[in-house]
Amino acid sequence: MGRYEEIYQRSIKDPNGFWGEAAEGITWYKKWEKVLDDSNPPFYRWFKGGELNTCYNAIDRHVEAGRGDQTAIIYDSPVTNTIQKFTYRELLEMVSKFAGVLKNLGVKKGDTVIIYMPMVPQAAVAMLACARLGAVHSVVFGGFAPHELAIRIDDAKPDVIISASGALEVAKLIEYKPMLDKALSLANHKPSKCVILQRALVKAPMVDGRDYDWDELMKKAQPAECVPVKATDPLYILYTSGTTGKPKGIVRDNGGHAVALRWSMPNIYDINPGDIFWSASDVGWVVGHSYIVYAPLLTGCTTVLYEGKPIMTPDPGAFWRVISQHGVKTMFTAPTAFRAIKKEDPKGEYIGKYDLSKFKYLFLAGERLDPDTYHWAHNLLKKPVIDHWWQTETGWPITANCMGIEQFEIKPGSSTKPVPGFDVRILDTTGKEVEANKEGLVAVKLPLPPGTLPTLWNAEDRFLESYIKPLPGYYFTADGGNKDEDGYIFVMGRVDDVINVAGHRLSTGEMEEILATHPDVAECAVIGAGDELKGQLPVGLVVLKAGANREPAEIKTELRSLIREEIGPLACYKETAVVARLPKTRSGKILRGTMRKIADGEKYSMPSTIDDPAILGEIEVALKSIGYAKKS
Ligand code: COA
Ligand code: AMP
Repeated sequence: MGRYEEIYQRSIKDPNGFWGEAAEGITWYKKWEKVLDDSNPPFYRWFKGGELNTCYNAIDRHVEAGRGDQTAIIYDSPVTNTIQKFTYRELLEMVSKFAGVLKNLGVKKGDTVIIYMPMVPQAAVAMLACARLGAVHSVVFGGFAPHELAIRIDDAKPDVIISASGALEVAKLIEYKPMLDKALSLANHKPSKCVILQRALVKAPMVDGRDYDWDELMKKAQPAECVPVKATDPLYILYTSGTTGKPKGIVRDNGGHAVALRWSMPNIYDINPGDIFWSASDVGWVVGHSYIVYAPLLTGCTTVLYEGKPIMTPDPGAFWRVISQHGVKTMFTAPTAFRAIKKEDPKGEYIGKYDLSKFKYLFLAGERLDPDTYHWAHNLLKKPVIDHWWQTETGWPITANCMGIEQFEIKPGSSTKPVPGFDVRILDTTGKEVEANKEGLVAVKLPLPPGTLPTLWNAEDRFLESYIKPLPGYYFTADGGNKDEDGYIFVMGRVDDVINVAGHRLSTGEMEEILATHPDVAECAVIGAGDELKGQLPVGLVVLKAGANREPAEIKTELRSLIREEIGPLACYKETAVVARLPKTRSGKILRGTMRKIADGEKYSMPSTIDDPAILGEIEVALKSIGYAKKS
């Protein structure tokens, strides 16, 4: 039996022994009574009875162990022309002081705090300060529009919101504060305090009595100590797109999260204390939570916090510059970033300009790594390019080629094998396992390992409906895929109404709800059509109301603005096809999957339940008119 097989089998057969040992990598105030509490399935809890503090584990203990002078965070911001380094000791001072600020504002254990910030070190400081007090943070990605922020404010009901005056998207100034003000005017829940980081880029107007200046508060702040919390207490809520307009509040606990992330660094990423790790993502996404902030710091590494893009800041050599300048060993980003670089620098000429000798692995996730991008990156970098699959829900990888355990041959298109702790199965809709190489639903046999979602924030029924009821006894991932005869997993894409645009997870169901509010739209569907750069792009198909006699071009522009205003620019909603009717089953279900295949020029079989087959021809013509359905 190989090393991977041995470790994997133990993790599945003896989860108590396996994770109990892994938990030794974390410092506890009080040891757990039980590693896995399986007394109330499907609600499994890890390290019940244990007490710890995540911030203590991420910062204080490294300072106490003599790592105080090691760099904890490298802030590299080509958009503001800044490089700043913070040692663990400096980070401790900043975080404990900001925890003092929050404490003075009344934040205490169990309270919620929303963080709506660009990629600045203060975003990580704010997260860690919440963790220090036992408060529950919820970070909202900066590309979301005020309406989306308002939905999250109403669900998380924060006592305090932390934001910044603005940021630069390449050269375009994005003012965060007016968006926050708009969100607060839309939300029913009104937090009484906001802390605003005034950046040199732009000065935010402040509301007297509600808004406080970050720097002013920090000048007067007294450091606050770590507050012990239960292993099962929530560390954060991270909202992610579901199939409707209401996002799902993924809950992450403190104990299981710290144990799993600490274990993942050496075992998956081959990263150990003192190593330099870079995740080119955003703190607003799960990758940013886990692998910009928590995992590298829990491990005592140096993490790079990059406020830039793969291209245009200033050129497609941006990633290679960061890797060589800071001596990055392992990098993690989304395939879309590599497709962007490949488009600008197809021959990889910028790669040769930099010393990448310390760079060992490139990890990609967030969307399927298409074999073309894999080959391009691998041929030019001549380093292992590792696809690994995970979700906001799991918080860390479900399948990967675990570089710290045993390197397997790479099969392009596959994210390799299940990570220890995840019992991955390919099932049919009745819950029966399908044969090797047959497409099915990717599911994980319960219990999920530590660090994964215990439930949804204030939505236990939705947790059961979304993840447990579809395949009893399993966690339903909503991804489709297959497993080959060697046990390699191929994740092919979502089987629900969630799409992936430039590594950003979005709900087509939500877009449909928004398009339907337009006064001229009678009915609509949104599908995720393939895109060379962004993986998928949303495309709308709308039926106009009888009597809507305005120019379709005008309506299309309005629909585009509507999505941009309600969800945000990151939705990248551009194209709408106006159709006379939508294809449906006899029971009235819109055939979105068939339309997606038509848009992508893929073969499709005529659904036996279709109401009127002639409609598919009309859909093809309409999609062709906006540049899709080319190859069919
Ligand atoms: N704040 C405000 N606006 C933002 C934003 C943010 N944090 N992030 C993106 N936007 C805006 C962009 O400015 C753009 O606006 P525009 O329509 O006015 O031009 C729009 O949202 C779309 O952005 P994006 O999808 O990022 O497209 P892009 O063309 O600017 O960049 C890539 C393309 C591939 C370089 C970029 O999408 C990328 O780096 N993706 C990686 C994503 C990632 O790391 N995901 C995490 C999983 S690992
Ligand atoms: P998010 O929750 O934003 O991380 O998005 C999770 C979804 O992204 C998954 O359900 C998949 O559909 C997709 N995804 C993430 N990583 C991969 C990968 N390596 N291969 C295929 N799909 C992926």
